[in-house]
Formats: sequence, C-alpha cells, structure tokens
Amino acid sequence: MSQYRIAVIVGSLRRDSFNRQLANAIVKLAPPEFSFKQVQIGDLPLYNQDDDENQAESVKRLKNEIIAADGLLFVTPEYNRSIPGVLKNALDHASRPYGHNAWAGKPAGVLGASPGAIGTAMAQQHLRSILTFLDIPTLGQPEAFIHVKDGLFDGAGNIGADSKEFLQNWMDQYVAWVKQHVA
Ligand SMILES: Cc1cc2nc3c(=O)[nH]c(=O)nc-3n(C[C@H](O)[C@H](O)[C@H](O)COP(=O)(O)O)c2cc1C
Repeated sequence: MSQYRIAVIVGSLRRDSFNRQLANAIVKLAPPEFSFKQVQIGDLPLYNQDDDENQAESVKRLKNEIIAADGLLFVTPEYNRSIPGVLKNALDHASRPYGHNAWAGKPAGVLGASPGAIGTAMAQQHLRSILTFLDIPTLGQPEAFIHVKDGLFDGAGNIGADSKEFLQNWMDQYVAWVKQHVA
C-alpha cells in the first residue's frame, strides 16, 4: 500500500483538459510510495450555506476523500485571471460547516497550464491566497506556470522531453514537502 495518498483536484471539467493531461502525466514522475487519486468536483451542487447541516452526498464524498488524503495536488487553468468557479465551489464546500474544514493542514502543491503567455500565474496567486486562509501549507518553490505548446506531452501522455527535467524537479520538491509535513 502507498504510504502517501494524494488527492488531486483539477480545476477544469473540459473533456480534453490540458490541466487534466498535466495531472495525469506528472503523477508518473512520483516515487512508488506515492499514490494519486483525482477527486470529482463536477457533480457538486452550487455552494449554499443553508445546506451546511445537510450536505449533499457528493459533498460528503469530497470531504471524506480530502480527509483520507495525506496531501493535495491542485492543477488548474486560469479563467479571467483567476481560478475557475468549479474549483472555488469545491474549496468552499469542503471548508464548511464552520469548524469542519477538511483541507486544514494537508500539504499541497499548485500547478497550472495555459496556452496563454503567463501560464496561469494570476490564477495560481489567487489560489494561494485561498489556500493560506484554509490553513493548507503550500509548496512555494519551484513555481510551475506551464505554457501549453506542441511537445508538452508525448504521444503516450507523458511529459515531453523539453519539460521533463523541470517538472521532475518540481515533483521531487513536492514529494519532499509532503514527507516533511506527514511525519
Ligand atoms: C471562461 C474562460 C476564461 C479564460 N481566461 C483565461 C485567462 O485569464 N488566462 C489564460 O491564460 N487563459 C484563459 N482562458 C483560456 C484557457 O487557458 C484555456 O481554455 C485552457 O485550455 C483551459 O484549461 P483546460 O484545457 O485545462 O480546460 C480562459 C478560458 C475560458 C473558457
């Protein structure tokens, strides 16, 4: 059994999402004692505080998956220079009811990919602000603002040769960060 279980939260519901492809590819760079599971966020209702004491089954499922995880990996697009609403919705759901924040204390890493020039830099800064409030210790360096271009992935869905060294180093630092926090 893997010693470190990581919940992967992808901020895009798009079928051919670059960020989902990135999430699928980068986990192959992790050591065998790490396992990764993408959590589903597309079936969550819109957050409504009236439902805090009667959360939907999909919300309970999300919270249980986060609570069971040793660490978190966020891989998100940038929408209008911030994070997509579906990701904020998931963050809000699992932070409530007040006093029952499922995210608290889980070590995290943040990645994002975009065809745009700044590679999700602004979305990641917004996300980091939210993660800080949610008491999620988040790897600061290296940052990973991934510019989507031909060759980012190879034909088998692995990280392409040009980005392999950079993203292997990112994963190595992330692995060390998680181990440091899961003593
Ligand atoms: C509503 C919307 C807003 C967007 N805003 C930005 C943006 O602010 N910055 C950016 O780099 N790309 C932006 N894009 C383009 C996305 O980077 C692009 O659609 C990307 O493929 C989304 O990630 P995904 O492939 O993982 O779904 C936007 C796309 C949509 C649909």
